[in-house]
Amino acid sequence: MTHPDWLPPTVDPTVPSAARIYDYCVGGLHNFEVDRDMVRAASQRWPELPAIMRSNRAFLRRAVDYLAAAGVRQFLDIGSGIPTAGNVHEVAQRHNPDARVVYVDIDPVAVAMSGALLADNRSARVVQGDFTDIDAVLTHPDVRALLDFDEPVAVLMVALLHFVPDSAEPGTAIGRIRDVLSPGSYLALSHFSSDGPPEDVADVVAMSRATPTPLHLRPGARIASFFDGFTLVEPGLVELDTWRPDGDRSRTANGRFHDYAGVATLS
Ligand SMILES: C[S@@+](CC[C@H](N)C(=O)[O-])C[C@H]1O[C@@H](n2cnc3c(N)ncnc32)[C@H](O)[C@@H]1O
Repeated sequence: MTHPDWLPPTVDPTVPSAARIYDYCVGGLHNFEVDRDMVRAASQRWPELPAIMRSNRAFLRRAVDYLAAAGVRQFLDIGSGIPTAGNVHEVAQRHNPDARVVYVDIDPVAVAMSGALLADNRSARVVQGDFTDIDAVLTHPDVRALLDFDEPVAVLMVALLHFVPDSAEPGTAIGRIRDVLSPGSYLALSHFSSDGPPEDVADVVAMSRATPTPLHLRPGARIASFFDGFTLVEPGLVELDTWRPDGDRSRTANGRFHDYAGVATLS
């Protein structure tokens, strides 16, 4: 295949990526045949897969709407993905045109596409960064240039942590984030869970091993522990479709696959 102009030269378009698979499922254009093939194959056994991804994206929009309406003007979106409909700065700046957003992703395509979209935007930028090296993210000059941690910041980790293995100690990394946040800050996350039939959970995890970022699904109680030190806002940690649903057409949880979402504040 030819190497499209927008593709960073280091990216191998024959290896699927979680960011591009997600992009395809939510209707984006920056994905390859290898990503689409993986979605088609997975959809044979998991026809609801693209709907789950779209539900996740809808949760992100509702969470940012909620946070911006609550007065949050700064957002750090870790694992932000390839830009597509309803990007965080677009949703937040509808409430407050001065809202500032830093996107962080490990995937070079996500970073390149975000950089192109934000080239003329003075209140949003993107950083290539790895959640598992959280100190480098939190001290990155571009993060510090745009975000003032003496004021409330909403940290978003939407559909990120299930790509992070326990060996990288995600709870400890979240603790490092909590330590730099000031009162009135927020943490919002969603996480695919292992609270389903073990054979179905194993099937999903096995499929994800074809990408460089395989899934690490966790039980709901473990996901809840990521909010330690924060206070969950209503309705707490719930199936993501049921987190403050609005007019969106919603996917009904089918018992086979669970994904949880919550938003919490720091006092
Ligand atoms: C499923 S997408 C979610 C995108 C967006 N947050 C959303 O919910 O619409 C997950 C993103 O996390 C990124 N990611 C995975 N592991 C990461 C890590 N260790 N650090 C930063 N980003 C990571 C992937 O590259 C991908 O873009």
